[in-house]
Amino acid sequence: MMIQNRTIIVTGAGGGLGEGIARVCHREGANVVIADLRGEAAQVVVKSLGARALSLRCDVSKDTELQALVDETVKRFGRIDGLVNNAGINFVKPFLETTSEEWDRVVSVDLRAVFFLTQMVCRQMLRQTPRGGSIVNISSVHSYSVLPGSGPYDAAKWGVVGLGKSIAVELATEGIRVNSISPGLLNTQIWKDILAAAPDADACWAYWKSNIPIGRVIEPGEIGDLAAFLLSDHSKCITGSNIFADGGMTSQLVSKEPYEAKPLQGGLPPADSRGEG
Ligand SMILES: NC(=O)c1ccc[n+]([C@@H]2O[C@H](COP(=O)([O-])OP(=O)(O)OC[C@H]3O[C@@H](n4cnc5c(N)ncnc54)[C@H](O)[C@@H]3O)[C@@H](O)[C@H]2O)c1
Repeated sequence: MMIQNRTIIVTGAGGGLGEGIARVCHREGANVVIADLRGEAAQVVVKSLGARALSLRCDVSKDTELQALVDETVKRFGRIDGLVNNAGINFVKPFLETTSEEWDRVVSVDLRAVFFLTQMVCRQMLRQTPRGGSIVNISSVHSYSVLPGSGPYDAAKWGVVGLGKSIAVELATEGIRVNSISPGLLNTQIWKDILAAAPDADACWAYWKSNIPIGRVIEPGEIGDLAAFLLSDHSKCITGSNIFADGGMTSQLVSKEPYEAKPLQGGLPPADSRGEG
C-alpha cells in the first residue's frame, strides 16, 4: 500500500474524478476526507468506503468552509498528509459575451480555492510532527492547448499549474511537494453529456478516438493511481511538475486523417519517376 495511514483530503469527491481518486487513496491505505458541495453525494461515497473515510459538505469558493474543512480533518484524523485540489467547474461561452460574474464564478472555484485551501493545508503541514506533505492539483489538457470559448477555465487551469510551481519552489525545503496532473477526456459526466448531446453517438466516438491516440477515454481510477503515486514517498524527487495523463492527446498535432495516408519521403523524387512505382 502506497499511502498507508496518511490522511488525504480530496475536494469534489462526491462523484466523477474526485470520487475515483478518493477510492484509490482509500484502497492504498489512506484515511480519506470526501469534501463536496453536494454533501449527500459525499456521504454516499463515504458509506460505500466504510472505515477511514469522512464526508464533509464544503463549497470551495467560500474561505470559511475551506477553514472548516481543514479544522474538521485535523479534529478527526490528527493531521493532513495530502490534498487533492480536484473540485472544478467547466465553462464554455463566447469570449465577447462572458460576464464578470461568470469569470468570478469559474475562477473562484477552479483557481482561487486552490490557492487558499493549499495555503491553509500547508500551514497545518508545517505545524504537525512529522512536518510536510504532498499537494496534487487537478489541472487539464487545457493547461497546454485550448478550445474556443473556454477562456476563464483555460486561465484557471494554466493558473493552477503556475501557482503549483511557485509554491513547490517556495516550500521545497520544508518537506512539502506540489504537483499538477493534466488529464485528457475522462469517463465522467462530462463525457456522458458529450455523447448524449451528439446527433450520432458512433460519429462522436469516432471523432474523439481520432483525437486520442490510445483510442479511448480515461477512467477516474487511472488518474487516481497517478495521484496516489504523487501523494506517496515513491515520488519524493518530483515537485513543481505538470504530468499529462491524456492518452497522447496533447502530443498529436491534429486529428488522424480519416483515410489511409501514403508514406512521404521528403527530398526524394516521386516513387514512380524512380522506377519503383
Ligand atoms: N471530465 C474531464 O474530461 C476532465 C478533463 C480534465 C480535467 N478535468 C478536471 O477534473 C476535475 C473533476 O472533473 P469531473 O469530470 O469529475 O467533474 P464532475 O462535474 O463530474 O465532478 C466535479 C465535482 O466537484 C464538485 N464541485 C463543484 N463545485 C464545487 C464547489 N464549489 N465546492 C466543492 N465541490 C464542488 C461537484 O459537486 C462534483 O462532485 C475538475 O477540476 C475538472 O476541471 C476533467
